[in-house]
Amino acid sequence: MIQATLHQLKVFETVARNGSFTRAAEELFITQPTVSSQVKQLTKAVGLPLFEQIGKSLYLTDAGQDLLVTCQDIFERLNNFEIKVADLKGTKQGQLKLAVITTAKYFVPRLLGSFCQNYPGIDVALKVTNHQEIQQRMLENKDDLYIVSNMHKDIDLKSKAFLDNPLVVVAKKDHPLAEKENLDLEHLNDRPFIMREHGSGTREAILQLFDRHDISVKVKLELGSNEAIKQAIAGGLGISILSEHCLISEGVSGELTVLDFKHFPIKRRWFVSYLAGKKLSVIAETFLDYLLEESSKIPFPETSILAQLTRNNGRLHPLRPESRKVPN
Ligand code: PGA
Repeated sequence: MIQATLHQLKVFETVARNGSFTRAAEELFITQPTVSSQVKQLTKAVGLPLFEQIGKSLYLTDAGQDLLVTCQDIFERLNNFEIKVADLKGTKQGQLKLAVITTAKYFVPRLLGSFCQNYPGIDVALKVTNHQEIQQRMLENKDDLYIVSNMHKDIDLKSKAFLDNPLVVVAKKDHPLAEKENLDLEHLNDRPFIMREHGSGTREAILQLFDRHDISVKVKLELGSNEAIKQAIAGGLGISILSEHCLISEGVSGELTVLDFKHFPIKRRWFVSYLAGKKLSVIAETFLDYLLEESSKIPFPETSILAQLTRNNGRLHPLRPESRKVPN
């Protein structure tokens, strides 16, 4: 039996995950010499090198790679055990790991606020990123739950739709097309356009629509952030297509407007997903139920009001309740 302490395994796993002794020390709030000495003792206990340093890069040896997988398995099991014990004691305690696409950041943190008030023993690690990176995280089984809007065909997932996530054409309020109704897609041809980065699900949905209708915009700028795109639109660099949720904070008073194009909004939904083979922890299940329950109470984005205001020359029409419903 290899004589290794849990602390040594934790330090090793952190170094291996970060590919750096310095970053591991930062993450664990310990000094770099402590990290080095813990890894040294573990290497001695294993009897084989765990890392190989080539130039400035740190690589895992075969033994290191196997030990990393073993460590991740041990920590996941221990975490689940801790959660189960807390549950048996009648308290919900432990960590919830969530990874969500960029647009979900407009409502998930708020939801987490009330969730954490109800369950003060639960700590949350939230990663906000694009679809491509979420897919990578799924392949590495890094999180308990994911919120996405494009489904990944190659990954076996259990998913539930919970809210609409429509894409709309966004422009500066004084844009020449702002007053027009029911515009043909051809109006987008050769217009300066601000596009999301490669790997973005929004970009994928936009390109699919453009392909189907033979539309070719002039991509003036590529940006990896919805907020930066909004600033670029306001700065007059062009128009873009964004999730309606990105406009929630602006409401009807901001500098942006939604253009009334045919084939829009592009209808999409948010799904909450997890790996089909994964046994959800009590905490992940609790959050999943909470998310489905609470999201059914969220009013449809304010921007639908914005869109209606624009289309109806400032007259506010009540939202039809059926537009909020999302089939499972
Ligand atoms: P993205 O996803 O950040 O990958 O574009 C956002 C969305 O699909 O709403």
